[in-house]
Amino acid sequence: MTALSIRTYGDPVLRKRAKEITKVDEKIRNLASKMLRTLKDAGGIGLAATQVGEELRIFVVDRSQFQLEDSPLIVINPVVVNSRGEQTEEEGCLSLPGTYADVTRPLELTVRGMDLDEKEMVIEAKGVLSRVLAHEIDHLDGVLFVDHLGSLKRRLLSKKLKQLSAGKQ
Ligand code: NI
Repeated sequence: MTALSIRTYGDPVLRKRAKEITKVDEKIRNLASKMLRTLKDAGGIGLAATQVGEELRIFVVDRSQFQLEDSPLIVINPVVVNSRGEQTEEEGCLSLPGTYADVTRPLELTVRGMDLDEKEMVIEAKGVLSRVLAHEIDHLDGVLFVDHLGSLKRRLLSKKLKQLSAGKQ
């Protein structure tokens, strides 16, 4: 199965608000498995559909990267229903290669969504998973991790961001 190409900073699709998925059909199942393949090939932790140019509310997470959990997490139409606390850790993104910065995220997050069988799921996330879910849900709203940085930190990254926009990584 061929992997999808990951869109990088400066690509307008990364700024789009993805649309709700109304039916999980073959197209969505196919997209999910291609996204997982792409995520594995890229060695990332999470991947949202907008990052592969699909304006649909779905993301995938490779939990084996940080939990004793082998099965990948696939979430459709995620909604944050609760968040508690704060954590600040360094973050990166497959759409911003070579770019890292400390980002403050909720310490705990409750997310409601749907799986590939259209069954409702509720995820009680803590720590790294909470951070990853917040990051991926942001993607579906056209938000990138660098948007959370203050002006000083952003200025430090401005050269890197300009290079990414220009396609020179
Ligand atoms: Ni990302």
